[in-house]
Amino acid sequence: MGQDNDSSAGMSRFEPQKVWDPAIRIWHWMLVFSVVSGWLLGEFRSFSTMQWHIYAGYTTGILILFRIVWGFIGPPPVRFRALAVTPSTLKKYAGKMLRREPSGAAGHNPVGAVSVILMLVLLSVQVLTGLFSEDDALFFDGPLASMVSGSTRTTLTAYHQLSSKAVLIVVLLHISAILFYLLWKRENLVKAMITGWKIVRK
Ligand code: HEM
Ligand code: HEM
Repeated sequence: MGQDNDSSAGMSRFEPQKVWDPAIRIWHWMLVFSVVSGWLLGEFRSFSTMQWHIYAGYTTGILILFRIVWGFIGPPPVRFRALAVTPSTLKKYAGKMLRREPSGAAGHNPVGAVSVILMLVLLSVQVLTGLFSEDDALFFDGPLASMVSGSTRTTLTAYHQLSSKAVLIVVLLHISAILFYLLWKRENLVKAMITGWKIVRK
């Protein structure tokens, strides 16, 4: 009984709040589509599908540009200011991250903020190196590949391949973190990224 009172008192510290605006939600699910399709079209490329890889890459690039603009003029939870975490806030949050309770952040929690920045930087590197990459086997050049020397092209292609592995790892970590929040911390972040409403600590 006492336990029930405790938990209901605990729950009263949370309330639903509209956190994610429609633009960021549509943006997120479009990014998922462009990155997953771009990655698959790159990894399993053939001569006939390579152009689609480039289209997916352009789409990702445009979405990143939108996110940069939105980081300056969008609503408070998606602003870069909200993503700026200090080592001390990060350490403080990481210390209680394993607690079996929702974080209740009115936006990204500090660890989430770091992963968002990491994903945006990595995807920018992916798009930028892709523009200068070449595929000798398929005789396929990125749209800006002819602007740089052969050795620079080779180096940037190697970086494009390397960062595509990093993108895979970071996205898998992102999905694992979301599952961890759902199953361990009982916090449904996916529903919030669909509806915009999040359970936030008062
Ligand atoms: C406009 C943007 C992009 C262009 C022009 C581009 C171009 C290319 C080219 C020319 C290759 C073949 C390189 C080679 O011979 O290994 C390639 C491979 C690849 N790209 Fe992109 N790319 C772009 C964006 C992206 C994005 C956004 C992703 C990931 C989300 C991606 C993932 C990959 C992968 C996984 C490979 C295969 C790498 C490997 O063989 O290990 N690319 N891309
Ligand atoms: C290619 C795959 C994915 C990429 C590149 C990606 C990227 C991102 C980025 C950049 C953000 C930050 C949003 C912002 O800019 O403020 C984010 C947030 C989020 N993503 Fe993904 N995502 C991917 C897949 C997924 C999948 C499959 C799910 C669902 C299972 C998911 C669920 C979420 C959720 C719930 C958030 C909000 C996290 C929070 O509350 O802090 N993502 N994602």
